[in-house]
Amino acid sequence: MNPVQLVDLKAQHSEIRREIDAAIREVFDSGAFVLGPHVERFEKDLAAATGAKHAIGVNSGTDALLIALEVVRHRAGAGEVVTSPFTFFATAEAVLLAGHELRFADIDPESFNLSPAATRAAAGRRTVAVMPVHLYGRCADVDALRLPGAALVEDAAQAIGATYRGRQAGTLGDLAGFSFYVTKNLGAVGDAGAVTTGDADAAALVRSLRAHGEVRSEGSRTYHYERIGRNSRLDAIQAAVLRVKLGRLDAWQARRAEHAAFYDEAFAGIDGVVPPSPPPDGRHAYHQYVIRCARREDLKAHLAREGIQTNVFYPQPLHLQPALGAFGFREGQFPEAEKASAEVLALPVHAHLSAGDRERVATAVRSFYVG
Ligand SMILES: Cc1ncc(COP(=O)(O)O)c(C=O)c1O
Repeated sequence: MNPVQLVDLKAQHSEIRREIDAAIREVFDSGAFVLGPHVERFEKDLAAATGAKHAIGVNSGTDALLIALEVVRHRAGAGEVVTSPFTFFATAEAVLLAGHELRFADIDPESFNLSPAATRAAAGRRTVAVMPVHLYGRCADVDALRLPGAALVEDAAQAIGATYRGRQAGTLGDLAGFSFYVTKNLGAVGDAGAVTTGDADAAALVRSLRAHGEVRSEGSRTYHYERIGRNSRLDAIQAAVLRVKLGRLDAWQARRAEHAAFYDEAFAGIDGVVPPSPPPDGRHAYHQYVIRCARREDLKAHLAREGIQTNVFYPQPLHLQPALGAFGFREGQFPEAEKASAEVLALPVHAHLSAGDRERVATAVRSFYVG
C-alpha cells in the first residue's frame, strides 16, 4: 500500500507544474533574479491576500521575525520580548538575534498558543514586544495578548489564511513574519518569507533592513546606508513560484479544512484522542492537524506500520533546549508546554490527501484505541 505522507509536494506540483514552469521561465528571461518586478508583484498579491497594507519579501521566516523585531529595537530600544516556549526554535532565536531578551510564558492547553494570563505575568516594564505564535495555523488570542506600551509581533509562520475575529493573520499586530518554507501551506521551492505591517514607516524600515540598511530611491540603488541591516532579499524565482501558488491557496485551504472536519468527526468519542479544538472566533488554517493522544509513541509506531507518516511538533519545548541552557530555565517552569510536547501528534492533512487516505488514517487511529 502507498504510504500516506505528511506532505506531498509531488502531487502539489503536478497540479500547477505548467504555470510554475512558465513563471520560472519568465524570471530567467527577465534576468532580474533578486528583488525586482517579480518580487514586487508577489508582495502586492500577498498584501491583497492577507489584507495587510504592506508586505515585504525576505529570504526566510526566521529573517522575517528577526527583521520585525529589529524594527521594534529601532523604535523602542532593546528590551524583553515575551513569547511561547512551545514553537519552532526560530521563534526564540529571532528574539535573541535581534538583540532582545527572551522571556517565555506558558501556553493555553486548549489552543497551544500563548496564555494571556501567563503573558501578563511574564511581562514587565522592560517588555518591548509580545510575540504570539499562531501555532499549527490557529491564531493566538491577540486581543487579550496586547499589552500597553509593547509592540505585538505575530509569528505567523504557520498561519497564512488563518483568521481571528474577521481579520487575517498578518494584520493582527504591529508587524508579522510569515514563512514560505517548502512544506508550509504556501511554500516556495527553497527558503522564503515575508514581513507584513500596516505601518508605512515600519515597512520602509523593513525594506531597508533586508538590504543592508540601504535607503533606495524608488527601488533604485543609492549605495547610501543609514543603518546596519543584512542581506535578506527575496529571490525572484521564489516570488514567481509563490505567486502561482498564492492563486491556489484558498482552494487548498478549503481541502485542509474538509480533511480536518472529517477527522474531527471520526475521532469524536475515542477515549485517548483529543482532536484540536476549533477556534471560537476565526478560521484555523490547519497547517498541521494535531491531536493530543494517550500512549503517543505506541500510536506513532502503529501508524507507521500502517504506512502513515506522522510527526511531533515539537518534542522538546524551547526552555529545555541545550542552546538556551545559559538562560537558566528549569524543567517544570512551563508545565503546559512540557505536557503538550509529550502528547501531541500531527496527522496528514495536506491539500492533496485523497479521501481514501484520510479514511485510512482515521481507521488506523480508531483501531489503535478501540480495536
Ligand atoms: C512557528 C515558526 N516560526 C518560525 C519559523 C521559521 O521559518 P523559516 O523556516 O522559513 O525560517 C517557522 C518555520 O519553519 C515556524 O514554524
